[in-house]
Amino acid sequence: MKSKSITRIWDLTKEEVLFLIERALEIKRTRMWKRSLEGKILALVFEKPSTRTRVSFESAMMKLGGSTIFLSTKDLQLARGEPIKDTARVLSRYVDVVVLRTYAQETIEEFAKYSTIPIINGLSDKFHPCQVLSDLMTVIEKGKDLYRDKIVWIGDGNNVAQSWIEASALLGFKLTLACPKGYEPDGKLLKEAYEKYGAQIEILNNPEEAAKNSEVINTDVWTSMGFEKEDEERKKAFKGFQINKEILSLASPSAIVLHCLPAHRGEEITEEVLEGVHSVVWDQSENKMWLHMALLEFLLKNN
Ligand code: CP
Ligand code: NVA
Repeated sequence: MKSKSITRIWDLTKEEVLFLIERALEIKRTRMWKRSLEGKILALVFEKPSTRTRVSFESAMMKLGGSTIFLSTKDLQLARGEPIKDTARVLSRYVDVVVLRTYAQETIEEFAKYSTIPIINGLSDKFHPCQVLSDLMTVIEKGKDLYRDKIVWIGDGNNVAQSWIEASALLGFKLTLACPKGYEPDGKLLKEAYEKYGAQIEILNNPEEAAKNSEVINTDVWTSMGFEKEDEERKKAFKGFQINKEILSLASPSAIVLHCLPAHRGEEITEEVLEGVHSVVWDQSENKMWLHMALLEFLLKNN
C-alpha cells in the first residue's frame, strides 16, 4: 500500500493540520511521549545546506526511539546520474521515511510517486510545508488567533510564502502579502487557492500598508538558496521590504515577528527587530522539532 507523503501543505486535510499542531503543542507542554518509533529509520536526502530542518528532524526521530541516516546527494549515486525513480524505490526497501530537501519541487513529487514509504518535503524551490506547520504552531502558542488577527508576509513570494498561501487557503484564515513587483507568489497557485478553496489572500506591493495593524509579521531572506545569481538585482528590488522599527511601529503593539532563519541582518530584518521583544524566532525554531515529532508519529505509527 502506498504511504501518505507530505510534498506540500495541500497533501494534508485541515483536520490533519490542526491535529498535528495540537499534538506538537501537547508534546512540548507535557514533555511526554512514547518511544513509538523504535526500529524505524529516517533518511534525510539533502541537495542544499540545512541547520534547523536537518537537526530538528534527526532529534525528533531519535527522541521517538528511531534512527537517522543523513545523505548529501553529492555522496549518492544520484550525483552520477542514477535516476530519482530508482533511488526512491531502493531507499523504500531500506528505510521507513525520507525527508528530502531539493532544488526542484518536481524531484520531491517524482520521489514520492515511486516510493512506497512516506516522503516529506524538507524544502524545495516552491514549498517549505513543515516550516509553515511549525510556524502555525508558534502563532497559536503565542496566543494569536488565525481567524481574527491580521497575519502578514513581507518580502519574497518564495517557498515559505507559498506554503503560507496553502495553509491560509486550506485552513480558511486571511493572509496579506506584500512583495516587490515581479516577486509575487506564483499566479497559478494563487488562482487555485482562490478557485478551489475560496482563499482570502491579498497581494500588495506596499509593505507599510501590509504592516498596518498586523498581529503576526512574517519575513524571510531576499535571496533564497538556488537564486544566488540574482542577489545584486534582488537587493535593489527589495529595498524597503525590511522589518525594522518603522514598519513595526505600524503594527499592533502586541505583534510578533517570525523569520524561519537563517536571517540576513540588515537586509530583510534589522538586528534590533530580530533581537527585540517582538521577535519569537528562537521559539519558532525550537517548535520545528516538536512539530516534526508529531509529524513522524502521525506518518509512521501505524506502519
Ligand atoms: N528554517 C530552515 O529550514 O532552516 P534550515 O535551512 O537551517 O534547515
Ligand atoms: N526561503 C529560504 C528558506 C531557508 C530555510 C530558502 O529557500 O533559502
